[in-house]
Amino acid sequence: MGICCSCISCNSAAGPDPATTPATAAATAPATDPATPAPELALDPFPDPDIVPTSPGNLTEGWFLNAATFNFRSDMLLGKGGFGSVYKGLLNQKVPIEGIRKLRIAVKKLDSNSKQGLRQWQTEVGFLARVSHPNIVKLLGYCQAEGDKELLIVYEFMEKGSLNYHLFGKRSDRILPWETRVRIATGMAQALSYLHTMEKPVIFRDFKTSNILLNESYIPKLSDFGLAKWGPNDGGQYVTGNVLGTRGYVGPEYKSGGRLYVKSDVYSFGVVLVEMLTGLRAIDKNRPPGKQNLREWT
Ligand SMILES: Nc1ncnc2c1ncn2[C@@H]1O[C@H](COP(=O)(O)OP(=O)(O)OP(=O)(O)O)[C@@H](O)[C@H]1O
Ligand SMILES: [Mg+2]
Repeated sequence: MGICCSCISCNSAAGPDPATTPATAAATAPATDPATPAPELALDPFPDPDIVPTSPGNLTEGWFLNAATFNFRSDMLLGKGGFGSVYKGLLNQKVPIEGIRKLRIAVKKLDSNSKQGLRQWQTEVGFLARVSHPNIVKLLGYCQAEGDKELLIVYEFMEKGSLNYHLFGKRSDRILPWETRVRIATGMAQALSYLHTMEKPVIFRDFKTSNILLNESYIPKLSDFGLAKWGPNDGGQYVTGNVLGTRGYVGPEYKSGGRLYVKSDVYSFGVVLVEMLTGLRAIDKNRPPGKQNLREWT
């Protein structure tokens, strides 16, 4: 891959004073602005066969990610996943009439020490740049900086965080009304249906409550395409490859035989549905033996 994109914020040597507030970091419009070219993507399959961006980043001058996240300060951390950390960021976006508008963003910093981190970044950017659906989180930009060391993805900010936080939390302000749960299930069914019926179907492969994000109105959006994979488009039923995903959500035919079907996502959707109905986690080692795996138990 190439080296740093022109995003000056990604060059820590040129990074701003930590005291610089995000409010001073004026940003150009995100990738959705027609003036900003959409990221170019390779159409040829990359290992496994996923897709990769052909350029190291689409973030141009004006995206001050270091400033936006206060140099990835710990109190801006939204959460950590298996492949990196996600930070909250604030940017000033230049808009006509209003002048400046505050834009909240989420920035994922992938673990670049592993090959897997690079693969996840490539896969996620590649797929997210190709999809567009009201129930799929929007990609605002991406950046590969400092050689391969900094792998960043910028998303729209999802105010209410992930579904698991609301389902399994103990605080009463996190309790989701049934109506909201139904809206979330419907939105996710629509997102999966959209992916599965694309000209070349996409299998999400890691459908779970922590990958369902909620905006300020509790509209659900699917996030985290790092394990997504092209489905079969040659009349076949399944694709094969390393078994990846999250324990408790992976269907038996994939787990034991390595056959990944579009319906494997539907299986995981079923597990999430049971979690939403019962308020119990897919896997919980604190439950008695025989009840730890929700699917086996139910
Ligand atoms: N766009 C976003 N807006 C707001 N919060 C987000 C956004 N994206 C991710 N997060 C938060 O960051 C956390 C970490 O996300 P990440 O996808 O890296 O890990 P995870 O889904 O918890 O675990 P895993 O590695 O198994 O996928 C999420 O749980 C969520 O709370
Ligand atoms: Mg995730």
